[in-house]
Amino acid sequence: MASDTLTVTDNRTGKTYTMPIEDGTVRAMDFRKIRTSDEDFGLMTYDPAFMNTASCRSSITYIDGDRGILEYRGYPIEVLAEHCTYLEVAYLLLFGELPTAPQLKDWVNEITHHTMLHETTRKFMEGYRYDAHPMPMLVSAVAALSTVYPNAIKVHDPASRLRQIKRLIAKMPTMAAMTYRHSVGFPYVYPDNDLSYTENFMNMLWRMVEPKYAANPVLARALDILFILHADHEQNCSTNAMRSVGSSLADPYLSVAAAISALSGPLHGGANEQVLKMLDEIGSKENVPAYIKKVKDGHEKLMGFGHRVYKNFDPRAKIIKWTADQVFEVTGRNPKIDIALELERIALEDEYFISRKLYPNVDFYSGIIYQAMGFQPSMFTALFAIPRTAGWLAQWQELIQDAEQKIARPRQIYTGQRQRKFVPMEERQHAAAVK
Ligand code: SDX
Repeated sequence: MASDTLTVTDNRTGKTYTMPIEDGTVRAMDFRKIRTSDEDFGLMTYDPAFMNTASCRSSITYIDGDRGILEYRGYPIEVLAEHCTYLEVAYLLLFGELPTAPQLKDWVNEITHHTMLHETTRKFMEGYRYDAHPMPMLVSAVAALSTVYPNAIKVHDPASRLRQIKRLIAKMPTMAAMTYRHSVGFPYVYPDNDLSYTENFMNMLWRMVEPKYAANPVLARALDILFILHADHEQNCSTNAMRSVGSSLADPYLSVAAAISALSGPLHGGANEQVLKMLDEIGSKENVPAYIKKVKDGHEKLMGFGHRVYKNFDPRAKIIKWTADQVFEVTGRNPKIDIALELERIALEDEYFISRKLYPNVDFYSGIIYQAMGFQPSMFTALFAIPRTAGWLAQWQELIQDAEQKIARPRQIYTGQRQRKFVPMEERQHAAAVK
């Protein structure tokens, strides 16, 4: 009877080793028993970019990359996007169950009453250059909240954790809106507790002199759906940063600041802004074949395409395409969608993309919607960071409560020199240019 074990033979010694297979994995530490002598450190696994390494056990988000399946706490993303609000989904991610009506009412009330920022944040914001990019502003503003809430360092205190979680989810839209208002030189708009989470975000972004901001309900709902789609995505780059920094028991503000930094990269959350730049560079449907050729010649990447996990369609991209139609009913059609659709049509027929299993990901269409709604491209990744905060915090809380987790500290394969003889200054030759 086959057993859930792996037996390997070390051909250097002829010894065989049997290790348990659990949940489709073997423990990397079991390889350390494979040694050539008592002095031998033992085998390590080598996995740059963690292509094939599970770093944790998690019950928050499930992805099946081959079937294009995404579930939050077991609920399909399509169902949540259709029936829930973003705050309802944030509750699900954090507490594991959909809230009852009283629970949701209390949760929304709590978040609504934590949207204000300490006034020092305003002064902090005023220190940035007039043309500062929202993402570095957001990173530093979130990190600065660590100075406002020093008790956040009590990461093993559930009540303190919950207070910081509510504050972060509530204040992210306020801070993101401040980065936008700073970039256009408009006065900051304070939160309006009469409005929903996304309506209030729109209020803090776009209210001018009118006494009360009236959000277009179709656009507010579209933003809520986009926030749901971006709320979590298991162990992506920025969540890995959140978990790694959180594993040192740093407070959640500094951990989220690290996650926002990771998200800002063009290969990750920064891709949505790059997609718009790419579509602007292409300029028209007629220029698409020439751009595709540049991609296939390796001179460009097709931004918004490809994914480490999805080797079929990204289910979020399908919902975003549907949402685009709702938004365009209100805003008018963004002509860039025609270029994007032509790019997708050609790419999905082309062997280069098919053989590499490259399909549109969550970032391919989101920027087109955001632009149609009136957002500047530089704000797009901040629109990703706001909803992903709930996912980062859910993953962080799971890490803190996981008895198996310790401070993250990978090993390395050392390729440098050893035991070099010291060279006094007068004997040093001009060092070869540092590569
Ligand atoms: C997000 O991880 C997550 O879950 C992330 C995310 C989330 O919700 O948190 O889903 C959000 O970050 C989505 C991804 C957004 N990024 C982009 O759209 C940037 C463009 N995409 C790529 O750079 C790339 O596809 C990645 C970064 C998304 C995935 O990279 P991998 O898994 O490391 O794949 P790879 O770079 O090794 O590519 C494999 C092959 C290579 O070709 P060969 O060397 O084998 O010839 O596919 C090619 C790559 O050159 N390729 C692309 C491509 N993506 C991969 N070629 C052209 N255009 C692309 N976009």
